[in-house]
Amino acid sequence: MGGPLKRERAVDLDKSTTVRFFRGSLPIGTSQSDTIDAITEHAIEAEVTIPTNCTSGTCGTCLVRLISGEVEIPESLPPGIDDFLISQGGILACCMPPIGDIEIDIIPPL
Ligand code: FES
Repeated sequence: MGGPLKRERAVDLDKSTTVRFFRGSLPIGTSQSDTIDAITEHAIEAEVTIPTNCTSGTCGTCLVRLISGEVEIPESLPPGIDDFLISQGGILACCMPPIGDIEIDIIPPL
């Protein structure tokens, strides 16, 4: 049974984070918060649907594409993603929180 991913907080909690969601090139929603952590939670706030299953980095269901900005990527990758997917812009929305403002394409790479 997997537990939550270990990661160091790199997010400045005093600064709000804006997450803009796209479907391809079409803007579909925006979330701005200084309390929300996970991209999946930002998606709920923005009324954007990102499918999830395990919410712990194992299944890969929440794979999306990072258009711009940075997210926290654990040194030891969770089973739901690999180096190739990351090289294609892939990130797991459930467990790779934004570092500052980001833009997300909900269509996964490949
Ligand atoms: S929901 Fe399973 S990896 Fe994100």
